[in-house]
Amino acid sequence: MAVDTERLRRCRVAVDLGSSRVRVALRGKGLVVDAPSAVAIDLRSGKVVAAGDAAATLDGRSPDHIRVSRPLLGGAVVQPDIVGEMLRCMLGKHRVVSAAGRFGRDAVTAMPQHLSADNRGAVKTALGRIGLRHVEMVEAPLAAGVGCGVPLHDPSPAVVAVCGASMTQVAVLSSAYSLFTETLHVGGDEIARTVEEHLRRRYWVAVSAERVRGLVAALDRAGPGTKTVRCWDLRENRPSNMDVDIEELREAVGPLLALVSGAVRRVMERCTPDVVVDVADRGVVLTGGAARFEALPGLIRDATGMPVHVPAEPDLAVIRGLERLMGGTSADLPAAGELMRDPVPEPS
Ligand SMILES: Nc1ncnc2c1ncn2[C@@H]1O[C@H](COP(=O)(O)OP(=O)(O)OP(=O)(O)O)[C@@H](O)[C@H]1O
Ligand SMILES: [Mg+2]
Repeated sequence: MAVDTERLRRCRVAVDLGSSRVRVALRGKGLVVDAPSAVAIDLRSGKVVAAGDAAATLDGRSPDHIRVSRPLLGGAVVQPDIVGEMLRCMLGKHRVVSAAGRFGRDAVTAMPQHLSADNRGAVKTALGRIGLRHVEMVEAPLAAGVGCGVPLHDPSPAVVAVCGASMTQVAVLSSAYSLFTETLHVGGDEIARTVEEHLRRRYWVAVSAERVRGLVAALDRAGPGTKTVRCWDLRENRPSNMDVDIEELREAVGPLLALVSGAVRRVMERCTPDVVVDVADRGVVLTGGAARFEALPGLIRDATGMPVHVPAEPDLAVIRGLERLMGGTSADLPAAGELMRDPVPEPS
């Protein structure tokens, strides 16, 4: 799907509804929301009482009448009204629509590749709840590519992978089109789930989501070793401490990382030899929060034989791209040849 740059320039609000985090940028103000995609609902009134960090902290610690939910499962808007309320809460004092409503009704959002018509409708309904009426949708890899400086209208192809919380999307981009795409329902959350399940099945211990996140971050740091984690011993039924072997966890998540690098390789295999040569010169641009997983760039490099570039803030690539696309003037849009002028550093 190509993008309509004229319509994009009319947008004042950019929204990236991720299954793990919601990001909103306003033209002229930049990023105003970067918060967990979580809401706390009072079951007695049906009202949203907290959103973002405040809701995420209540998870597992709230009274019976408060339910914390993540309303963007797998990147899809399941309950548009709840998502709309969540956005309203997160935006707080920031107005996305002017008091007179004359401007600010156009928004741009990133969507997963091949989003169904129903799901597109749900996104529009959710954004309608905060006053947005016209919603432009841009595929996430295209937005991420622009966010990393891939020139929008350049015919030379570029491979961009977005490895988020719930899914990995890979696309070969050329002239504002996605030539070939691959979507995989594997992302950072699946990596965390695998770690949690591994510890439960092998050692009969339950570890909280927060501590699992700490373990996943430890997998990124070089070298073997152990990390002590507070857990619940399921056999003894009491709290305990466990020394977790980090190398063993790396092995447990290895097959998932191999799936991700395999998706990039499959997209490359569909390219003609000419395209592959162009792509090989530029390398793969790896974005999304799970791109912070240090082992991933190396695996993709091994699977494709191409250099892999990870921007400094890979999880912000999509929202930065949307921000650039609604930049307002043609000068703000990336120009041809811009990608490698300021290349992102290769991971060491
Ligand atoms: N240092 C890290 N190492 C490994 N994974 C990480 C790291 N930091 C963040 N992540 C993972 O990145 C994911 C969040 O990435 P991102 O913000 O791109 O997701 P999202 O946009 O909400 O998800 P999606 O686009 O799949 O709906 C989480 O699963 C998180 O655990
Ligand atoms: Mg995302």
